[in-house]
Amino acid sequence: MKYNFDEIIDRRNVGAVKWKGYDEIIPMWVADMDFKAPEEIIEAIKSRADEGTFGYTYLNKQYYNAIINWVEKRHGFKIEKNWIYSTPTIVSALYWLIQTFTEVGDKIIIQTPVYHRFKGAIEDNGRMVLENPLKELEGKYYMDFENLESNIDSKVKMIILCNPHNPVGRVWSKEELIRLGEICLKNNILVVSDEIHSDITFKGYKHTPFASLGNEFAENSITCISPTKTFNLAGIQVSNIIIPNENLRKKFDNTMKLNAMGDINIFGIIGLIAAYEKGEQWYREMLYYIEENYNYMREYIEKNMPMIKVTKLEGTYLAWVDFRALRMNSKELKRFLSEEVKVAFNEGQLFGGNGEGFQRINFACPRKILEEALFRLNIGINNCKTWSEDV
Ligand SMILES: Cc1ncc(COP(=O)(O)O)c(C=O)c1O
Repeated sequence: MKYNFDEIIDRRNVGAVKWKGYDEIIPMWVADMDFKAPEEIIEAIKSRADEGTFGYTYLNKQYYNAIINWVEKRHGFKIEKNWIYSTPTIVSALYWLIQTFTEVGDKIIIQTPVYHRFKGAIEDNGRMVLENPLKELEGKYYMDFENLESNIDSKVKMIILCNPHNPVGRVWSKEELIRLGEICLKNNILVVSDEIHSDITFKGYKHTPFASLGNEFAENSITCISPTKTFNLAGIQVSNIIIPNENLRKKFDNTMKLNAMGDINIFGIIGLIAAYEKGEQWYREMLYYIEENYNYMREYIEKNMPMIKVTKLEGTYLAWVDFRALRMNSKELKRFLSEEVKVAFNEGQLFGGNGEGFQRINFACPRKILEEALFRLNIGINNCKTWSEDV
């Protein structure tokens, strides 16, 4: 390996959200990595900083080509330049998409457990959440198409799809996406496909961009992508919203105008170009490393703490782990993990009511940190008197 993912970096003094306030506790929650970004990106940013002028900067051809080439090479989806809107973050874009394509009081579908800011974006904008809970079958999650169809009414205008799915780690198959897409076409429901995790898939799984499944699907969808999860760049804020449909673009243009959305910041531009043009080797090694971390975690837990269950992941660096056998309510589980085990995960119910009893564990960290967290968990759980297989 050219890059050293084992390096332990102290992120406490750089304002890292993940590490804020944690001294004794190992934080494994918010979705960024404890790895350094690729040297190629660091160099590109340094050299641009050395140049010394930071005035208004347009998005040049190289920027657009970097996105187009990366997405075509990785996912076989051919994007045209004029489909691309750059926004600082995907969450900000979700707010603008909801404002543009739905009205106050409309319903928007999300499939829980799912990234919690979908719900926030819908409710903050006065729209209504229509939950279509995922179905769990022998530790794997599926979309519930029957439930979805039976709950659609004329108020439903949009679905926010998480593809691949945070936190259950599904890389949705073509068949699943086609079935969903057909239901949405039949009912005039716009598909917003958040594909921020699309590059992070494990061996044997391939991401399918929703919009690549045919013209009708492309015209009825908006895709959100970003190099920030893939290359650990969340702090430089750069995302891209892909809108193939001209009518939808006109409406979104207007929202951008009303919000005086200008170009994104220089280091977002430089970081994205360096990532997509020069980051491939780092990316491949990172994928290998995190999949090994996942395998290690799963095997360790299976061997030492068989009462807790790790959902089989197909992608992302966020494990979805079932702690229900401990028979603790969410308050007790939180206290147990933070005060006795001394780790910080995300509580499952953050992602929807059906996440109760689960924890989301971010394993994108040096192996030693993961080993220490699992060691602590092992001691804590094996001393814990409440667990029972009978749940
Ligand atoms: C599905 C999903 N969308 C969006 C985001 C956040 O993206 P951004 O930082 O660009 O708002 C996350 C972060 O974890 C995520 O998991």
